[in-house]
Amino acid sequence: MSASIPAEGLPEGKVVGADGYAVGNNGDYFAVGRKCRHLGADLAHGSIDEDGCLVCPWHQAKYDVKSGRMTQGPQGFFAKIPGLDTSFKLLTKVLPLKRGKVTRSGDDLTVA
Ligand code: FES
Repeated sequence: MSASIPAEGLPEGKVVGADGYAVGNNGDYFAVGRKCRHLGADLAHGSIDEDGCLVCPWHQAKYDVKSGRMTQGPQGFFAKIPGLDTSFKLLTKVLPLKRGKVTRSGDDLTVA
């Protein structure tokens, strides 16, 4: 199954949703599963930080979009829970976000 989105709708720094993926542009196009491993926020509503990581819109966990692994655990109240950060990093080492492939053809991006 694949989805198509217009490339002009995805300038650098933006994230959108396409089927089961959060599709973004951090200088390179990427697609990762859109459900945060913490409490299931839609990562298609996330943002991209200065390192190119995808940031969850709810509690600001960060993901490396190449590996699908969490690089920073949930923030705010959750950051005060001992071991939680490490637990989620380990969880996403075993169960990373799925990664999709984004290909550009003319003015369209195809995500599969
Ligand atoms: S739901 Fe993503 S960090 Fe909490």
